[in-house]
Amino acid sequence: MANNRVNNELVSDFSKKSKQEKIEWVSQTWFANPHQAKSILETYWHTDEKLQQLHDEFIENAVSNFYLPMAVAPNFVINEKPYVLPMVTEESSVIAASANAAKFWSTRGGFHAEIIGTEKSGQVHFLFSGPHQKLASFFTAVKPTLLEETNSITKNMRKRGGGIVDIELIDSKESLHNYYQLHVRFKTADAMGANFINSCLEQLAKTLREQAASYALFSENESQIEVIMSILSNYVPGSRVKAWVSCPISDLGDDGDLLAQKFVQAVHIAYQNPYRAVTHNKGIMNGIDALAIATGNDFRAIEAGIHAYAAKDGQYRGLSKAWVKDETFWFELEVPLSVGTVGGLTKLHPMVKWSHELLHSTNAEGLMQIMAVSGLAQNFAALRSLVTTGIQKGHMKMHLLNILNQMDATKAEKQAMIEYFKSNVVSFNAVDQALTAWRNT
Ligand code: MEV
Repeated sequence: MANNRVNNELVSDFSKKSKQEKIEWVSQTWFANPHQAKSILETYWHTDEKLQQLHDEFIENAVSNFYLPMAVAPNFVINEKPYVLPMVTEESSVIAASANAAKFWSTRGGFHAEIIGTEKSGQVHFLFSGPHQKLASFFTAVKPTLLEETNSITKNMRKRGGGIVDIELIDSKESLHNYYQLHVRFKTADAMGANFINSCLEQLAKTLREQAASYALFSENESQIEVIMSILSNYVPGSRVKAWVSCPISDLGDDGDLLAQKFVQAVHIAYQNPYRAVTHNKGIMNGIDALAIATGNDFRAIEAGIHAYAAKDGQYRGLSKAWVKDETFWFELEVPLSVGTVGGLTKLHPMVKWSHELLHSTNAEGLMQIMAVSGLAQNFAALRSLVTTGIQKGHMKMHLLNILNQMDATKAEKQAMIEYFKSNVVSFNAVDQALTAWRNT
């Protein structure tokens, strides 16, 4: 077995194998108990073969499905309209935090949100050896052709109100010898637009090279523009959304004054201190990612863009703001977001489709607002716990079922433990002891 494993660890033409062959290979080669490994994969197959095939075809080398729980968080009031948020996450306390924050603010005027912009960008990164001024004149001369040659790609997008907003030439020679960029700004309507943007950029790069090759005023050397790469940017400060809540301090509860004061201080600490800022923003992303996954959006792109924005002034900072003015508490979050309600998986993945329907098929701007609210709600719930009871009380309560499942607790045992831990502090040891004691009675 050991020798076999060494011999078979590498595989060629894997992607050409059938799904069955792939499963056989991975189970036989990499698992001590191949039968068990294979059967776990099969347990997670969908019983509807067509639906399973749909999932298999999303990615290469698919062998099974990977479940994450999907939940709904009710009682969100956003710009005076009620919403139920679809959320996919593995973290036990996230949904409870959402639902609590939603309920809390539903009786205090709800959440508000507004779009600040919807522009995205992409760059053609290239090298030009010659005087900047000559390249600038060339660029001015060929700009109409650059745009014209993307017409067939942008046609449908233009009909939907999107397209290329503008192209600029950027001199980046200070960072790399002969390095320039075409910085292209886009609007992509209700699509996230990654494929659209990248197709436009690759066409622009091609036209740029072709036009340079035949530009009469360039020398032989100058006419050979070297394109390094053409790709969208996931940094989208031009596509931003703001969400906020506010209420009289007295509406925050009995200790409203103290809560508001500590809350504002906690937000200030996250702004000043990167160690705290990262965790603060991670809490915000708990709300944004869960909604991004449920709606079939690219959460890695969203994460990358938001974290870059958090460091836009050179220091990584907390993204939300809180302040008190005229006895009123304000809490606000502004984030860059590029999301889609059409294209990608939106019409393909049944659960993604379901999520969009749950959100009343809102458009991309609507989804941006809901996502920002979801981030703000998580941040509110986390900070409120942190500056009052501490986070572990709620967290461990939510985690109790995971611990009990690890201990193979029966339904009756779970009920008994949930009751017991209503008035006791949850920890792994405490649950172990309480369950053992209960089992021995
Ligand atoms: C845990 O997933 C998120 C928190 O750590 C966020 C925060 O500290 O603000 C609770």
